[in-house]
Amino acid sequence: MSESLSLPQSEAREPIYQALIPQIKALTDSENDCTANLANIAAALKQAFDFFWVGFYRVDADTLVLGPFQGPLACTRIPFAKGVCGAAWQRKQTLVVADVDAFPGHIACSSSSRSEIVLPLYKAGKVALVLDIDSDKLNDFSELDQHYLEQLQPIIERFL
Ligand code: SME
Repeated sequence: MSESLSLPQSEAREPIYQALIPQIKALTDSENDCTANLANIAAALKQAFDFFWVGFYRVDADTLVLGPFQGPLACTRIPFAKGVCGAAWQRKQTLVVADVDAFPGHIACSSSSRSEIVLPLYKAGKVALVLDIDSDKLNDFSELDQHYLEQLQPIIERFL
């Protein structure tokens, strides 16, 4: 697998997701190091969509700890149930937040972040990580993003 992405020139996200996800699968299927794979997934999502912030938080006891990411500096620790990330961990579900200012307890690592999607990732039936993507645009994530990003869950869970 070459270390570059081949992506269509498109304003629409769907063809980009359709090209990107098999390439992320191929890239990570040939490598078992968790940190290396998470770092490349964050880079691939950032490169494909130029999201404001893309990264992972890892569950460590009762806290999420910052993992590989692309974007501005971020909060290093998020307690269980706090913020969108902690809520996705607590509820064990993908959260799509159209306006972060309207989400009770949202943690503003950056005032530029306006909308957000967070997906939990499981190891042995427990949330082990969350994938967090922030946009600097309001209402930037839809069911389409959720549908395709959830296809990354089994790809990531293979190497956790
Ligand atoms: N906004 C997140 C915190 C993480 S940063 O956005 C990178 C939250 O509310 O959980």
